[in-house]
Parts: sequence; structure tokens; C-alpha cells
Amino acid sequence: MKVDVLLGLQWGDEGKGKIVDVLTPNYDIIARFQGGPNAGHTLNFDGKKVVLHTIPSGIFRENTLNVIGNGVIIDPFILINEEINQISSITDVKSKLYISQKAHLILPTHRLLDYVNETKRGSNKIGSTLKGIGPTYTDKVSRVGLRVGDLLLPDFQERYQHLKNLHIAQIQSMGFDYKTLQLNNMPFEEYERLWQKAAKELATYHICATEYLLNKALQEGKKILAEGAQGTLLDVEFGSYPFVTSSNTVTAGVCSGLGIAPNKIGKVFGLFKAYCTRVGAGPFPTELFDETGEQLRQKGGEFGSTTGRPRRCGWLDLPHLKYACMLDGVSELIMMKADVLDGFNELKICTAYQHNGQIINEIPYDADHDMQPQYEILKGWDQSNTQTLPQTLKDYITFIENYLNLKITLVSVGADRNQNIYL
Ligand code: GDP
Ligand code: IMO
Ligand code: MG
Repeated sequence: MKVDVLLGLQWGDEGKGKIVDVLTPNYDIIARFQGGPNAGHTLNFDGKKVVLHTIPSGIFRENTLNVIGNGVIIDPFILINEEINQISSITDVKSKLYISQKAHLILPTHRLLDYVNETKRGSNKIGSTLKGIGPTYTDKVSRVGLRVGDLLLPDFQERYQHLKNLHIAQIQSMGFDYKTLQLNNMPFEEYERLWQKAAKELATYHICATEYLLNKALQEGKKILAEGAQGTLLDVEFGSYPFVTSSNTVTAGVCSGLGIAPNKIGKVFGLFKAYCTRVGAGPFPTELFDETGEQLRQKGGEFGSTTGRPRRCGWLDLPHLKYACMLDGVSELIMMKADVLDGFNELKICTAYQHNGQIINEIPYDADHDMQPQYEILKGWDQSNTQTLPQTLKDYITFIENYLNLKITLVSVGADRNQNIYL
């Protein structure tokens, strides 16, 4: 058996949570391979709405194991208090969740460092979710981080204090007093106490070598789906650096983030919205600053699932999408939020850019300036959620398929689990 992959092809928030939940009945295991609580994956079912940050989106289906892989970084406070406790009345998480002992821990001081780093950047802010993502991955690569498996060691508290002291020295050297900084609207020490309590609780979960668990499952013929977080255009290697996240969001991240060999990768489901959004700073050539942008934001409910920030909105950008499909080896496309485009007279799709006086359709190194989108104009449709798709929506789909040379197999026309059109 092989591991199928589902990931976002844009700047995140494509609707990964919804589609993982839809596809979960076809799989035995759902596994997150990168990112952390910067992610916000929304699921809507049975009239309920749930936002997951670290827990894989297969958690609400019976008979499915959910794995948090070694490539993920975990904040015990968020995982226990803001996720598990929120959904404990709907499902029993503990029996279905397996956590890699090698996944790194986000300490309270990682979050302070994130804040201090962003503040120091002044007008060049990344627009980080301030969940401690950058500092935690930095410590992992610097070989000073703490891992989930360390929670079970007798000297965990000494290791914790040692790393905390390193962070405090860093924070002080940048001119901040950590004791005056707040986390979740709490004084640092109060938050730290709750973090420690959550860390103790986390230590009682299934903590194991998930790379063995997953590879054994494959040998036994089990079906695994890897769930991406963020989006391909936020990848630390290929995104619009430095306006990126700190992990590999592309398909290659599945190999290092779960311990899956490249020849064990199966299908790759690439998700994109029928338009574009981005939250946080960085280049966005098709961004709309006018009423149309506002219309997309309001109709699409484009406000961050994790931070509540308004998302920047714009027309679909095909050269960026093609770049993502190339990097990820996408085998089938899933188009999200087609319903948000219902009722527009005409729709624009970017097929190239004018850049430094030339027409280009590859993403240049200096994509942060002088990128004038070249648009095709297509006719809109009234209503997407119908028995037969409107012809103009079919034309929109065909236009995208021809440009990308890939098939769209599913069109999502609403936030609920059941609002899907299979092609
Ligand atoms: P993720 O991070 O990729 O899982 O996406 P988010 O959950 O952050 O953002 C997607 C938002 O769009 C959520 O509020 C979803 O409930 C919602 N959503 C997902 N699919 C659709 C759809 O087809 N139509 C509409 N209108 N909303 C959708
Ligand atoms: P999901 O999984 C959208 C963005 C942030 C910021 C940049 C770096 O829900 O699609 P970080 O906190 O990682 O240091 O922020 O990346 N970002 C996301 N944008 N969806 C996400 O996750 C994101 N996770 C991070 O807004 O621009
Ligand atoms: Mg999201």
C-alpha cells in the first residue's frame, strides 16, 4: 500500500479540514506531517462547527486512527485545552490519537520569542500567527529543542528550565522583559503553570515511534492519508520567502514528517479555492483592494480560523497553481468554495504576469514587486449547488483543467460535509 496525500496548493485555508473529513471513511489512518497550531482546519457536520489545530481531521469518524507525526510541532496547552477539551463531548480522542515521540514541543517562551521577533521586524512583519512556529522549528534545527518523548524522562523539568533560560536570555538581549509579556491574555507565569499541567496530561496519551506504526500499517495493507497544513505557497523552500511558514508544506514533507519513503507516496490530492486568499504579509499578485475583494471576503467568510484576521482576497492565480502542482506531483485536483463565486457576472483568471516589461508565466525570484496579472475573463454562474452544473461553471473548470493539464474530480459547494459535487 501507499500513502495518499492531501494538501493545499495556495496560501493555506483551502478547506483541507473539510475534505479530509469527507475522505476519511476511505482510510484507516489520517496523519498530520508538518506545521503546528498555526493551522486552523474547519469541519462542519451534523450542524456542528469544529476548528482543529493539531489533531488530524479524521478524528470524528469511527474506526480511524489519527497520527500526529514527527514533523509536527505541538503546544500541549493548545492541544489539550483548545482542542481535546473542546471536542471531548463529541468523540473520545484518546483512544484514536497516536503522537510521535519525536514531535517537538512548543514552549511558552517559544511563543514569546515569536512575538519579540515579529515586533522587532517593524514594518517587515511576516504576519505570523504568533503560535511559536518559527522559534520552535529553529530550535529543532539548532538541535536544542525538546520533544514529546522527553516528557516521559525523569529530568524533563531540568531540560525545560535549561531551554527556557536560553530563551529568556534571548528575549532580554532584544530589550524585552519576559515577565511583563502576556500569553492568551494571562501573565506569563499563570500561562506557564497551565502549560505544565497540559504537558503532564499529554504524557498520558499514546506516545510512540509513529514511523514504525505507519510503515507496519502499510505492510498490513492499511490505507493512510497524510493531511497537509498551511499551503504549498507558504513552504519554507519554495514559498515567497521570508513570508512563509517554517516547515515543508509540499508533498516531500510527508517523507521527512512521517518517515515514509518517497516510493511509498500514492495519490496526491491538491486543493485550491476557486479564487485566492492569503492571511499575513507577502506577495499576492491578484489581490483585490476594491468592492469585489470585499464581496469575496464577506461571501466566503474569509476571516482566519486561528487568529480571526480578515484574509486578503483576489482572483484565481493559475501560474502559482501550476507551480504548486509541479512541486507537489498533484494527481487530482479538488476545487473548493465554488459557491462563493455564485452570482458574479464575470470572473477573472490570471494566466500570466507582466514583470519588468515582459510577459512571464513562471514565478520570478523577485515576485514581490511589479507583477501585473494578465487576466482571461470568463462568464459567471448563478447557482453552483444544483443537480447539474451550470455550463459556465463547467467552462470555468475546463479552463483550469486545460491550463494545469490535470483533472478536477471534486467541486466543493458549501462548508458542510455533504456539500460536494463529484465529477
Ligand atoms: P483549512 O485550513 O484548509 O482546513 O481551511 P479553513 O478551515 O481555515 O478555511 C476554510 C473555510 O471555508 C472554513 O470556514 C470552511 O468551513 C469553509 N469551507 C470549506 N469548503 C467550503 C465550500 O465549499 N464553500 C464554502 N462557502 N465554505 C467552505
Ligand atoms: P492552515 O493549515 C493560512 C501564515 C501566517 C503567516 C505565515 C507564517 O489553516 O491552512 P507562522 O505562524 O507559521 O509563523 O506564520 O504563514 N499561515 C497560515 N495561513 N493558513 C494556515 O494554516 C497558516 N499557517 C500559517 O498567516 O503569513
Ligand atoms: Mg485554516
